[in-house]
Amino acid sequence: MKGIVLAGGLGTRLRPLTSVTNKHLLPVYDKPMIYYPIQTLVNAGITDIMIVTGGSSAGDFLKLLKNGRDFGLKHLNYTYQEGEGGIADALSLAEHFAAGSPVCVVLGDNIIENNICRAVRAYRHQGGGAKILLKQVSDPQRFGVPELEGRRVVRIEEKPRQPKSEYAVIGVYMYGSDVFEIVKTLRPSARGELEITDVNNAYIERDEMTWDELDGWWTDAGTFESLLHASTLVARTGANKMDAVADSAARTAEATVGK
Ligand code: G1P
Repeated sequence: MKGIVLAGGLGTRLRPLTSVTNKHLLPVYDKPMIYYPIQTLVNAGITDIMIVTGGSSAGDFLKLLKNGRDFGLKHLNYTYQEGEGGIADALSLAEHFAAGSPVCVVLGDNIIENNICRAVRAYRHQGGGAKILLKQVSDPQRFGVPELEGRRVVRIEEKPRQPKSEYAVIGVYMYGSDVFEIVKTLRPSARGELEITDVNNAYIERDEMTWDELDGWWTDAGTFESLLHASTLVARTGANKMDAVADSAARTAEATVGK
């Protein structure tokens, strides 16, 4: 499985912090924001990673991350998103990198307390389709929100006024290599972007979507409130924690067979 970190966008909700730099380079407590999603992938044994970025400070990612030594990596891949096409458009730029492999996509402003080892292992056994991770939140209208019938997710709505559940679809998605064909069928949403929620709904319509609930805290960091909240959570408890025995076994398995 290959990893993709989406770190483009204008970060308009964080202006003027993002007037001269990319949102994902801003600090979350003691590290630049992008360190957390990269660590999420590495902790799950996913070490073949592409960063999708854009804008005028794209070169700063290379200066900051270099070949990924801070994460124990020997190499990182980079690509450049022109314009503001949305999350699914950013994902489409990684098609040649994926080269037929399944992918784990992490939004560059999503930070988790623990890890995704269990979900990655479950997705591997699933043998195709998609998997999303859900987390109960107090403000679901800020996110993609699933409508659930028992264990089944029947539809996801992007930022609904009247959410059909108390869950958010977090920004960690697992897809088969067919995701790139799905993205090609999408039309821009009302805000003129290709939405990741439309990708997920396509898998739901094919009956090829599963979900797990993430344990530990999760936050995005794309608004002033959530950026402050993220820094506070990281300072208090730390992020990207591993359970010594169970998670390490899953990570080693992924690193061994997961190329
Ligand atoms: C994006 C997705 C949304 C998801 C969220 C998670 O929203 O569109 O479905 O719940 O990330 O962070 P955005 O942060 O672009 O508003």
